[in-house]
Amino acid sequence: MQLSVSCVVNVRIPGVEDLSRINEIEEESFPHPWNPDVFQDIVEYQGKLMLEGAIIRMIVATKQDRVAGYIVWTEGRNLSEGHILNIAVRKKLWGRGIGRKLLEYSIDSMTQQNMNQVRLEVREGNLRAREFYEQRGFQQKGRFPAYYEDEDALCYYLRL
Ligand SMILES: CC(C)(COP(=O)(O)OP(=O)(O)OC[C@H]1O[C@@H](n2cnc3c(N)ncnc32)[C@H](O)[C@@H]1OP(=O)(O)O)[C@@H](O)C(=O)NCCC(=O)NCCS
Repeated sequence: MQLSVSCVVNVRIPGVEDLSRINEIEEESFPHPWNPDVFQDIVEYQGKLMLEGAIIRMIVATKQDRVAGYIVWTEGRNLSEGHILNIAVRKKLWGRGIGRKLLEYSIDSMTQQNMNQVRLEVREGNLRAREFYEQRGFQQKGRFPAYYEDEDALCYYLRL
């Protein structure tokens, strides 16, 4: 008899109890991870923190209520462009549609907030992430030299 393991992935707003897991994923995902204080502020002041005139939003994807990934973005009040600031999925869960689910949630939210464009930056050498965005229709339209100190960033845009 084969036992099936639940693979249901849900999406919700994170709480402080999720922070250690979020920071673990951040550490395993990036050579220069965000400081844990940044996530703490975003989670504690969800929907109230502003960046360049836009509201910072964050959601997590959970599997059996454990955080499997997250996305952070901004959407404006008086702005027309949303900005994806961070997305990561636990490495052992890559390739199962979790990143796509997070990305779609943020795009839906930006659409509802009347953004007409989404922008993001990605390391030039992060071919997997570039493929992930391109597959969703993002187009590369610029470059920020040495944006990450050790590497250029490519700028991607999606019209909504
Ligand atoms: C980028 C990332 C978030 C994608 O998450 P994921 O859960 O693995 O992505 P999904 O399973 O939803 O895949 C969605 C699409 O990504 C692309 N993709 C997935 N796995 C891929 C692979 N091994 N090679 C190339 N493209 C791949 C495909 O286009 C895929 O669509 P498909 O399933 O229809 O083929 C994840 O790899 C990650 O956390 N990377 C480290 C952090 C990072 O680089 N973040 C981006 C910073 S800009």
